[in-house]
Amino acid sequence: MDKELKQLKKRALEEFEKIKNNKELEELRVKYVGRNGELTKVLKQLKDLAVEEKPKIGKLANEVKVALAEKLDDLSSQLTKNARGSIVQATDLTLPGASVKTGSLHPNTIIQYELEDVFKSLGFQVLEGPDIESEYYNFEALNIPADHPARDMQDTFWLTSGEVLKTHTSAMQVRAMEKSGAPLKAIFPGRCFRYEATDASHDTTFYQLEGLMIDQDISIANLIAVMKELMKGVFGKEVKVRQRPGYFPFVEPGFELDINCLICGGKGCSVCKQTGWLELLPCGLVHPNVLKAGGLDPAKYSGFAFGLGLTRLVMMKYGIDDIRLLQSGDLRFLKQF
Ligand code: PHE
Repeated sequence: MDKELKQLKKRALEEFEKIKNNKELEELRVKYVGRNGELTKVLKQLKDLAVEEKPKIGKLANEVKVALAEKLDDLSSQLTKNARGSIVQATDLTLPGASVKTGSLHPNTIIQYELEDVFKSLGFQVLEGPDIESEYYNFEALNIPADHPARDMQDTFWLTSGEVLKTHTSAMQVRAMEKSGAPLKAIFPGRCFRYEATDASHDTTFYQLEGLMIDQDISIANLIAVMKELMKGVFGKEVKVRQRPGYFPFVEPGFELDINCLICGGKGCSVCKQTGWLELLPCGLVHPNVLKAGGLDPAKYSGFAFGLGLTRLVMMKYGIDDIRLLQSGDLRFLKQF
């Protein structure tokens, strides 16, 4: 039996050397040390041995059992290690990562958020109105009755319901007065629509940002101060401004506000057509009829309003020479911001 055990050990270890994977390892474990395995069968015969032989063979049998078990454990951990090794090999950590495509903000939105931040820091609230607007808020309440020639200033998309696609953010003025009363400091960024023939500087859809400030004793000086603060926020420096008379039925007096040309600093260049000035926005003091429409007493309150062409500002800031690009949805254009 001594010889039998030694041969079994030798044979088992030889076979163990050929193991290539966990499946083979399990098969050999069952074959040799399993419940009906070869070693187990030999051990079962121990009880039939002569008394004097039992301790010696018993010890040997135990040694064989331990040696085989250790060898199997060794092989098992080696196989796990190799498997890990092959995973590490399959992952080349020096390869550049797969690029994740993320979206980005539309240039219009970027500038809108920038302006909102400036105005919020001055204590203005941000309000938004509907794109489909009633004739009342878009025209009537703004001192533009049905037969007023000023209706021709804005080519309008009329809906069969009698409503309009809002032609300007001024449509929010009276809504805001009704909602918040006075004193009032608010801006209304929004999308506007006009029935235009499109070209590089005209589109049927564009964005404005309206500002409205109403309190007791508000004058043009307040308007200019806020405008200068705005320009500092947008362009990061002091800019000179000037006013020219302008006509809008809902402001009295009405102005066009120009800023010193940012390209040439006022000396005259092709961008400002050699004038040294750039047209920035129309503005003025809120017309008494508009205050009345908003439920406010013109004898007590006054205010200013301005209508910043957000789309135009975006084009100026980023040097975009065709307004139609902004609505094109062209990723080659949008990815640049
Ligand atoms: N709503 C006017 C427009 O779109 C601009 C404007 C706003 C003028 C506020 C004066 C005051 O043309």
